[in-house]
Amino acid sequence: MAVRQDTIWERFLSPVVRLLIDEDGLRRYADSIDWEKECDRYRRDDVIIPSYYSSQNFHGVTGGYLNYGAAVSYDPITQYVVPPNESIVRQALIDAVKVKPRRILDLGCGTGSTTLMLKQAFPEAEVIGLDLSPYMLVRAEDKARNAGLGIVWRHGNAEKTGFRDATFDLVTASLLFHETPDAVSQAILRESFRLLVAGGQVLILDGNQKTLRQLEWLNDVFEEPYIREYAAGSVDANMGAAGFESVRSHDVWWINQVTSGVKPIATENIRRYTPTSIDNDLEGFGSPAFGIRA
Ligand SMILES: C[S@@+](CC[C@H](N)C(=O)[O-])C[C@H]1O[C@@H](n2cnc3c(N)ncnc32)[C@H](O)[C@@H]1O
Repeated sequence: MAVRQDTIWERFLSPVVRLLIDEDGLRRYADSIDWEKECDRYRRDDVIIPSYYSSQNFHGVTGGYLNYGAAVSYDPITQYVVPPNESIVRQALIDAVKVKPRRILDLGCGTGSTTLMLKQAFPEAEVIGLDLSPYMLVRAEDKARNAGLGIVWRHGNAEKTGFRDATFDLVTASLLFHETPDAVSQAILRESFRLLVAGGQVLILDGNQKTLRQLEWLNDVFEEPYIREYAAGSVDANMGAAGFESVRSHDVWWINQVTSGVKPIATENIRRYTPTSIDNDLEGFGSPAFGIRA
């Protein structure tokens, strides 16, 4: 894993985090997996890797997410870089769920930390985690298996998932939008709108845009190619432009934010579930967005 030498991350934070993580243990874990064979179970020929993704390094790691090193190191590092505590921040997204979901899609699921929490919070729901990196999906699947959770992992682009219209009643994305250009975030929100049933909810958890604008230096801490664009933008405005209503952001410990939007009921006739290969067991159910909590 080649790493740039000149970022604040590499000069100051990475050495500290390295002291805290068990690098030998990670190496043993990485060596225990035939990554290419496992990734082949997920790779789909119809998934085109976008250039914004393959042309950039994320977190100073050359190759971004398309390598096993990213998948193995993501969780040990993330636990130290999401203040005040990773679980508290992720829980804020779970707590913001207002629908009773039958089917949930977690976009840019990565190693599945939020996806697992969604399945734990809504055990009856069919939960699908989608990511562009098969390496991240291999790690996510391993975590779900160890936790005894049945989650479907799918290789795909959040901009164009290939799922049918109105397939989900909750679409989420955590820590994804600060890693995508604004135009891509807008496309993902439009795709989320298409995928949701009327009355369905979208939830985006990510860095707090107000705080990032106030504290410029935060944008330099990690090598994140699109974080300035993210900080300058507005998830609220993008959600509204995608057609969502009741758009609201709330701060999560000042450093993060959760933004919620609802697909208006009036925009279309409420569609019913149509069984597909991933949901035969849901055949016959009506619209999954059958209630708003709180
Ligand atoms: C910072 S990680 C966040 C992972 C996870 N959601 C979490 O909360 O820890 C960003 C993830 O988004 C994925 N990603 C980036 N662009 C994507 C896209 N257009 N479609 C699907 N996944 C994408 C990356 O592969 C990576 O796993």
